[in-house]
Amino acid sequence: MKPFDASSIARGFATNCLAPALAATLIAFAPGLAFAADSAATAPSSADAATIQRGAYLAQAGDCAACHTAPGGKPFAGGLPMSTPLGHIYTTNITPDPDTGIGGYTLDDFARALREGVAKDGHNLYPAMPYPSYAKVRDDDVAALYAYFMHGVQPIKAANRDSDIKWPMNMRWPLKLWNLVFLKKGVYQDKPGKDAAWNRGAYLVQGLGHCGSCHTPRGIGFNEQALDESGTEFLSGALLDNWFASNLTGEHNTGLGRWSQADLAQFLKTGANQHASAFGAMTSVINNSTQAMNDADVNAIAGYLKSLPPAGGSGGEAYAYDPQATKVSLSRPANDAGARVYAAFCMHCHGVDGRGFAPMFAPLAGNPNVLEKEAASLINVTLNGTGDLVIQGIPAPYPMPPYRDQLNDQQIADVLSFIRAGWNNRAGAVGAGDVAKLRAATQPEAQSAQSAQAGQAQ
Ligand code: HEC
Ligand code: HEC
Ligand code: HEC
Repeated sequence: MKPFDASSIARGFATNCLAPALAATLIAFAPGLAFAADSAATAPSSADAATIQRGAYLAQAGDCAACHTAPGGKPFAGGLPMSTPLGHIYTTNITPDPDTGIGGYTLDDFARALREGVAKDGHNLYPAMPYPSYAKVRDDDVAALYAYFMHGVQPIKAANRDSDIKWPMNMRWPLKLWNLVFLKKGVYQDKPGKDAAWNRGAYLVQGLGHCGSCHTPRGIGFNEQALDESGTEFLSGALLDNWFASNLTGEHNTGLGRWSQADLAQFLKTGANQHASAFGAMTSVINNSTQAMNDADVNAIAGYLKSLPPAGGSGGEAYAYDPQATKVSLSRPANDAGARVYAAFCMHCHGVDGRGFAPMFAPLAGNPNVLEKEAASLINVTLNGTGDLVIQGIPAPYPMPPYRDQLNDQQIADVLSFIRAGWNNRAGAVGAGDVAKLRAATQPEAQSAQSAQAGQAQ
């Protein structure tokens, strides 16, 4: 197990879980359509140590632990609450315990759960389990994952908890209809004309990495609007339970257009680089998943993302750093409410020049998250600070502190409006009403170093 931060995931998927989709499909379709199961992979029944180890690596790439481990709980024993508009659902025990876990799963059962979202007893899983992405995982990788979960994970007896969702919305059959409409079956196929590294990156991003489950905007059925680069919405940024999962396309202001492939690899390995730092739901992804990937895979992901054409964003001129006007306001902060708050509360870490001390203290000048039209992440991070980023067992020494108790809604709106206009950032102002809404809907990020459990991959 890698250091683990479940708090952001617990909230991160709040809107994933298709209440409206259930309602929509209930209304839109007649009941009783049979679910057509694909014939799943078959593989050898005995597993060697190398396969188990490869499975452990793939489980990290898929970030299974982030969802299937409750805070303070045993690895993969489930029980993490994930909120939906209708109530909580709980992740399940995927240790090989025969009674309460997946010990009774055959490889075919496991492949069907992972890629089609159907449990062994035939009930459909909510797509909070990212099977629409895992659908792309190839047979040999499914077999390695299976070997790991059967032979490399300690069996834990822990009964699954029923969801809090009330009848009739707890009926699962409408999910079969959702799958018919939105689940794209078929594993990843290498794209001709692209090299092996590009295809590896695409496979990891679209498949196990399930990056789109947070970074791709969702449609009316809460489905991801695109599952690969053929759709312009793919990874173009999405609001996800009070965080904005950034635009990962080549857009030059709010996306990764100004990042090099090496910048991007550094971010995935360490959670920070000269442009930005990880916070919100991304902290858990870095803690549990991307930092554990080998250099070849991290570079493949970075190379693939760098190949995505610009999408979303404001489309305006490319950002150009200009500190002059901001320096002047900060020299006379009495005239500007936002500059006053910045000088008193933020400047010693983020600097007069807005450049912070990267990668330790994030820059705010030209930061894609600052330039983003949707200000939810900025408001959230200022109210609640950042959770622990834990790199190779060591928590980040200076997380961003929470300001919910020191600053009122108007002061936070003022300072963020100042930052979004400062250093030639040219993003829009933030209103006190938006801060008030997020204050009510969120709580401080967990920041105690002790809460991060450092452990070894088993
Ligand atoms: C984003 C959260 C999330 C991630 C990541 C995730 N799961 Fe799940 N998984 C769930 C949830 C939630 C359920 C239960 C859904 C339900 O009850 O409808 C589930 C159910 C399952 C089940 C069905 C078990 C049963 O019998 O109930 C299996 C098997 C499974 N996951 C395996 C995996 C594996 C392997 C990985 C990593 C490759 C993984 N999951 C990653 C959320 C997640
Ligand atoms: C659980 C939701 C979630 C998943 C899954 C996820 N991300 Fe993120 N990601 C976020 C959020 C929220 C942010 C915005 C906060 C930040 O910048 O760290 C973000 C930010 C980022 C950034 C920084 C962009 C910037 O402009 O600052 C990169 C790069 C990134 N994610 C890459 C990835 C990749 C690659 C994957 C898949 C391997 C992935 N993410 C999976 C939620 C997620
Ligand atoms: C003690 C130093 C410190 C102070 C004071 C501070 N910050 Fe931060 N801030 C950080 C660090 C460190 C990060 C990077 C997040 C991380 O890695 O935990 C950050 C990140 C941010 C981000 C997200 C940028 C990104 O990476 O995309 C915003 C926005 C932000 N701070 C705004 C503010 C505002 C507004 C104030 C004043 C009200 C403030 N900060 C005061 C240390 C500080």
